[in-house]
Amino acid sequence: MRKLLNPKPQRNLLNMPKITFIDTQGNKKTIDAQTGLSILEIAHQNKIDLEGSCEGSLACSTCHVIVESDFYEKLPNASEEEEDMLDLAFGLTHTSRLGCQIILTEELDGLTVSLPAATRNMMVDKK
Ligand code: FES
Repeated sequence: MRKLLNPKPQRNLLNMPKITFIDTQGNKKTIDAQTGLSILEIAHQNKIDLEGSCEGSLACSTCHVIVESDFYEKLPNASEEEEDMLDLAFGLTHTSRLGCQIILTEELDGLTVSLPAATRNMMVDKK
């Protein structure tokens, strides 16, 4: 029997939209990402410093990202629960969203999100 040299599944780059993260220092990192994953999951897979302390259960705002305005319009509206958490985020802007609530689709190819200068973790910072 012939052995496969690379048994890892090949990622189909044609179906992988690009997403760019801009960190707090202004450094950009562009990634070919898998559709169906959240921005938070993509960040974690690619060692982007986006916290996400509640792991997507809408109990923190540490996955706060600022979405480039062109793409903000393409996103489904935030739920009431997401809006409530965003109200608690540091550095809230009119294009702020929670990274765990944005699911990557092919239509979002080219999406750019910036990480805010700071986050507030409601699970720890209860003041
Ligand atoms: S990870 Fe906590 S709300 Fe997104």
